[in-house]
Amino acid sequence: MNIILLGPPGAGKGTQARHLVETRNMIQLSTGDMLREARTSGTDMGRIVADVMDRGELVTDEIVIGLIRERLEGDKAGGFIFDGFPRTLPQADALADLLSSMGEALDAVIEMQVDDAALVARITGRFTCGDCGEVYHDVTHRPAVDGVCDKCGGTNMKRRADDNEDSLRQRLMEYYKKTSPLIGYYYAKGQLRTVDGLAEIGDVQKAIAAVLD
Ligand code: AP5
Ligand code: ZN
Repeated sequence: MNIILLGPPGAGKGTQARHLVETRNMIQLSTGDMLREARTSGTDMGRIVADVMDRGELVTDEIVIGLIRERLEGDKAGGFIFDGFPRTLPQADALADLLSSMGEALDAVIEMQVDDAALVARITGRFTCGDCGEVYHDVTHRPAVDGVCDKCGGTNMKRRADDNEDSLRQRLMEYYKKTSPLIGYYYAKGQLRTVDGLAEIGDVQKAIAAVLD
């Protein structure tokens, strides 16, 4: 099964993708994570990517489609979760072509609906385990012991450079201008399903499971 998690920054895409990886043996393909890896590479491409991301703008279609293409060639396990990709209509067309060339299809596009007011609180409170990638929040999802990851015991908690109000405003603008047209695109294809992303994490997990089963 191959699915897209679609929603604005802070909608909970990464949180839900990790749960699907753990419970359904699916593979999370997060272009955000891939780009954060690229920016630490010390290459010219990495420096350009870092600058664009910190401003909250979108990286070029060419770069992200290339990253996805490479990953699709590997293990397929229980299917792919596209997290933060596609984000533009050309990316959506490229994904359709890539999947069909592999004899694969897209099974569902899950739109996570949230309102903008909730996003600021989610983004500014977020931190992540630098060792295993588990996503936490200062208020809604703290580890049992402060500073220690529930999943791996690591103590290397990180905050993202683009998790501030200015950058979030720009990321939201990019979302509404370039990514939200994908909602109509997938609706017209009969693939769109919607879940309430404002519900508690466990209830969002149940809503997504209901779509998939
Ligand atoms: P990316 O890394 O994809 O970031 P994003 O889309 O802005 O999404 P986030 O990771 O911020 O949010 P999320 O929906 O995953 O929420 P999370 O689960 O963490 O992209 C970063 C940048 O990379 C882009 O700005 C762009 O520059 C570039 N980029 C990436 N992909 C690209 C592409 N395809 N094309 C071009 N450029 C691209 O949750 C957020 C917080 O809320 C957490 O603290 C979590 O604990 C909490 N939370 C989650 N769910 C709930 C809930 N139900 N209730 C309460 N709290 C919750
Ligand atoms: Zn961890």
